Amino acid sequence: MTRGEKNIVLFGFMGTGKSAVARRLGERLEREVVEMDDLIEDREGMEISRIFAERGEAYFRKRERELVRELSRRRNLVIATGGGVVLDPENVRDLERTGSAVCLTARPEVILKRVADQSHRPLLEGNDRELTVKRMLSARRPHYDRIPCQIDTSDLSVDEVAEQVIGLRGSGE
Ligand code: S3P
Repeated sequence: MTRGEKNIVLFGFMGTGKSAVARRLGERLEREVVEMDDLIEDREGMEISRIFAERGEAYFRKRERELVRELSRRRNLVIATGGGVVLDPENVRDLERTGSAVCLTARPEVILKRVADQSHRPLLEGNDRELTVKRMLSARRPHYDRIPCQIDTSDLSVDEVAEQVIGLRGSGE
């Protein structure tokens, strides 16, 4: 296994701030940032919504699982996971083994506002986004709740969240 410092792994539902916070942490800590969705898009040569449409969600989850295995063998990274990575407990277990896990949360209304004008989230396509987000959040809550360290980003800036994540590491979490 590669030597170095533990990864920082950000979990959380869509719109909780994983990507923005990961970028900020990367700048602050001078670490490589891996945005899992972007890497899957690069490797597959198509956007996530097209992967879902043409190859299906199961195909995407397999690529996601492979990437988790690969990243959990590395060190010194800041990793922004996709919101559904927690659906497979093995993913969380693998990423927690070599990383400090933090789950970002936000109130449903804040999530809805943040994802309002974004069209790259295939699971939110359709008519009633509010209902979809609320249903998905309650179905996934047990998965997110399994991660001990949680930060509610609803009323915080990206900098404030990054600060809290750095503080948690300092306290040995
Ligand atoms: C998903 C979240 C997305 C992306 C895909 C599936 C999910 O990532 O991986 O659309 O199942 O919640 P973000 O959380 O970065 O939007």
